[in-house]
Amino acid sequence: MEKAPRKPIFCSTPVIFLVVLSLLYIDLFWANFISFDRWKKDCSNSETIFNNRKIINETDEEKQNSLDFLFSSLLAGEDRSKLKATGFACNTAVHSIHCVTNRPVMIDTRTMTVYIPSDQPVQETVIKPYARQEDHNLLKIVTPVKILHGNTTPPVCQHNHEIPAVIFSSSGFVGNVFHEINEIIIPLYITSKNFKSRLLFILEDYKQSFISKYGKVISRLSSYEVMNPAADQSVHCFPGAVVGLMFHGHLSLNSSDVPKGHLMRELRQFLRQAFNLKFSHVSQIKRPTLMLLSRRTTRRFLNEDEMVAMMEDLGFRVIVVARAKVVSNLNIFANLINSCKVFVAAHGAGLTNELFLPNGAVMVQVDLVGLEWAGATYYGNPAQAMGVHYLRYKIEPEESSLLKVFGRNHTVMTDPRSVHDPLGKEAYLNGQNVRINLARFRETLVEALSLVGDSTL
Ligand SMILES: *[C@@H]1O[C@H](CO)[C@@H](O)[C@H](O)[C@H]1NC(C)=O
Ligand SMILES: *[C@@H]1O[C@H](CO)[C@@H](O)[C@H](O)[C@H]1NC(C)=O
Ligand SMILES: *[C@@H]1O[C@H](CO)[C@@H](O)[C@H](O)[C@H]1NC(C)=O
Repeated sequence: MEKAPRKPIFCSTPVIFLVVLSLLYIDLFWANFISFDRWKKDCSNSETIFNNRKIINETDEEKQNSLDFLFSSLLAGEDRSKLKATGFACNTAVHSIHCVTNRPVMIDTRTMTVYIPSDQPVQETVIKPYARQEDHNLLKIVTPVKILHGNTTPPVCQHNHEIPAVIFSSSGFVGNVFHEINEIIIPLYITSKNFKSRLLFILEDYKQSFISKYGKVISRLSSYEVMNPAADQSVHCFPGAVVGLMFHGHLSLNSSDVPKGHLMRELRQFLRQAFNLKFSHVSQIKRPTLMLLSRRTTRRFLNEDEMVAMMEDLGFRVIVVARAKVVSNLNIFANLINSCKVFVAAHGAGLTNELFLPNGAVMVQVDLVGLEWAGATYYGNPAQAMGVHYLRYKIEPEESSLLKVFGRNHTVMTDPRSVHDPLGKEAYLNGQNVRINLARFRETLVEALSLVGDSTL
């Protein structure tokens, strides 16, 4: 849908172009140095430690006990009791659904059927393993998984695995960094982190672009290659399985939700390691560097050059990045954004990259007409838990291009909450650009500058 951008990235000074190149170089350098094998080795040292107790030679029984503990930690209350009693239980929430079994399973990747044999009457459960269950249109493109629990005749195993499987889908909004991270990457982390890489991911609706983009994250959550069921077409046996991913909230983790104890601080640390990010705290960055995310098609800044001039006047070194190849190459982009003290963008998926900012940095969201709720829910509220300061620049009607189109008294301008799709989406998301009031915006940036000043942080 997005037109090919004229320039993928441009910078306010040639110096900054060098920064991009050197980041690319660092990226390649580290990619060569920290090989997957070495990482796997490091990891296998740590996996012998479980429950603060060193397990030298785990017996089969001990192995099963550890797995049982991990499986039951993915459920609470009645669901957990049901898992203990029957070996199978599901949890249904607003956004997500996930089913857990701690019994041996046969997974037929030809039909995406999970067999959980027992002597009970057979029950069939069908779920679409994607953490946006409320979006019925979207779910249409997610391949269902059929779970047969009870007295069934499973096909014969062709491959035996000693570790459990996790089944999820990379369908949905793949290509959009917000949806990828919100609905797949964070839920995958929540669901699988405690297994310490000892599980195998079965990725339905497998997209190579997704694997390439998030390979560094995925390979830190599982020591095994991700399986593409469409290419596999055979029967695999596992000592247990999880179908679907757990979701705690938009771009967030809730440490009191199951599995208890996940912290945003640790997720950010995990992402920093995965992408070899240099800075954990804004004070480690010497110059006041600001990234301005420049959208090319919708929600554009109409006076971007003037904005940049004003920012430079305040003393910022400004990096302007266009939404394009650079942004979609997370290895490069995450490093680039991690080297900034302040991140400025209009409401949009690009703000998801606040996850890569160092602690104490500032995210400034230009909050457009009609997008207040989404701006707060998706990006503003999660920022605080990330240790990132959030400044909201709420535009006035005069700054929005919608004023000319609809006039001051149209409900689009006066009462956005009463405007429903498709008009809402067409106007606010796709039809709106902004001409920033420089004097007012300057105040927001002065505040940002004081927040990242060297004195207190
Ligand atoms: C663990 O098992 C290996 C091979 O079975 C054996 O050589 C080793 O002595 C065992 N270690 C302990 C602490 O039991
Ligand atoms: C976190 O999870 C707990 C337990 O499920 C819940 O009571 C609480 O409301 C959640 N907090 C947030 C901010 O969602
Ligand atoms: C908008 O409404 C106000 C008050 O109802 C009116 O005075 C004004 O002329 C209207 N403006 C336009 C552009 O229609």
